This record gives sequence, structure tokens and C-alpha cells, in this order.
Amino acid sequence: MKLTYLSHAAFLVESSTHRIVIDPFLSGNPLAPMSASEVKVDAVLLTHGHSDHIADAEQIARDNNAVIIAPMELAVYFGQKGLSVHPMHLGGAHDFPFGRVKLTIAFHGSGIETKDGLLYGGNPSGILLTMENKTFYHAGDTALFGDMQWIGKLNAIDVVALPIGDNFTMGPGDAAIAAEWIGAKKVIPIHYNTFDLIKQDPNAFVDTIAAKGLEGIVLNPGDTFEV
Ligand code: NI
Ligand code: MN
Repeated sequence: MKLTYLSHAAFLVESSTHRIVIDPFLSGNPLAPMSASEVKVDAVLLTHGHSDHIADAEQIARDNNAVIIAPMELAVYFGQKGLSVHPMHLGGAHDFPFGRVKLTIAFHGSGIETKDGLLYGGNPSGILLTMENKTFYHAGDTALFGDMQWIGKLNAIDVVALPIGDNFTMGPGDAAIAAEWIGAKKVIPIHYNTFDLIKQDPNAFVDTIAAKGLEGIVLNPGDTFEV
């Protein structure tokens, strides 16, 4: 499994046969390493309905004839736009041609911003994605929560992406606790430095968790990491 960090909470994930994108936010993102029209994928996975996670979902899904996989309410929203969707919900898993997806809880919101106001977007989620026998836990936007210990105990997680930006999600201190609880082999900090409000030093985070014997990896936008 190959992960390319597209900045913020967005990843391109590739196996030898498939490509998917998680939480595409490239338009209007000052750190985006590529444009939405350059993204070639089989599926679009979304953790929740906030604009910094779904900004380019519609365009990428249309351009690629790709299915949008998301929590039920968010999937319905895109389905009503005529896109192909696969609704899931918290705790549910499904085997797709590219791999297995299981949605986890996340403590956050999921309102969908539209020109007519905020739409109800259901619950936010995290994603456990297994491809080629490797498991990637994308925690989504979330607060620290105790059940992360169970997510770590019940799943052999090779790599976890944790938000460290603070304000809207965990900050680096809580994310370091999350990293310890989840016990993944590798930890990638995400959801920082896109805006001033979420400015953080990812290297300081990596140093903090290194002191607990955990391996953090700072990916710059566009960097690829082989899991
Ligand atoms: Ni959010
Ligand atoms: Mn966000």
C-alpha cells in the first residue's frame, strides 16, 4: 500500500491494482500539491461533510466515474447529485474491489455547508482501510477518545494518520496520547498548517512520540510513503 499525502487530511492510496482518494481538499487549499483534475482514482472515501474534506469529491467522482464511499447521510447528499455512492455507517465494514473499509467513530461534526445553509450530514467517522494486508487508520477529524485504545487492540494497524492542528480537532498533546493508545507501527500527523488557526510543528510532535518509543513520519504535501 502506497500513501501520498495531499496535505490537510487528504491522501491518495494506491495498491498494485487500484487507486483511491480520502477527503480530497485541493481547491482553495494553499498547500495542495496537485489539482483535483490530476487525481485519477477508482473511489473517493469521505470521513465527514466539512468543506475541508469534501471540497473536490464531486468533481473527482464525476471525472473518474468513481464511487463515493461515505457515512450514510453524506452519501445520500452526493447520491442526490446523481453520483454513484456507497453508503456505510459507524462500525460497518465492507469489502470493495480495492480493499476493505470499516468506519470508526470520531468525535466531531459533519454539517455540509451549502449556499442554502448548513445541511445535516450525520455522524463523522474515521476510516480503517485494509489493502494488500496493510491497515491504514485515518482518524478523520476527532477529539481524543478512550475507545482509540480498543481500535488499536482490535486491529493490527500499520499506520495511523492523526490530526494535530488543535482548535477543530486534537492538538499535538492529545494526538500524542492517541498515538500511544492506538499503538500503530507508524504515525503520520495531519490537519495542520493549512491555515494559521491550525499552525503546528509536526517535527515537535514526532519528537514527543519518539520519546514514547513510537515512530512518527512527517510527510510534506506530495510526499509518498510505502506502508
Ligand atoms: Ni471537520
Ligand atoms: Mn477538518
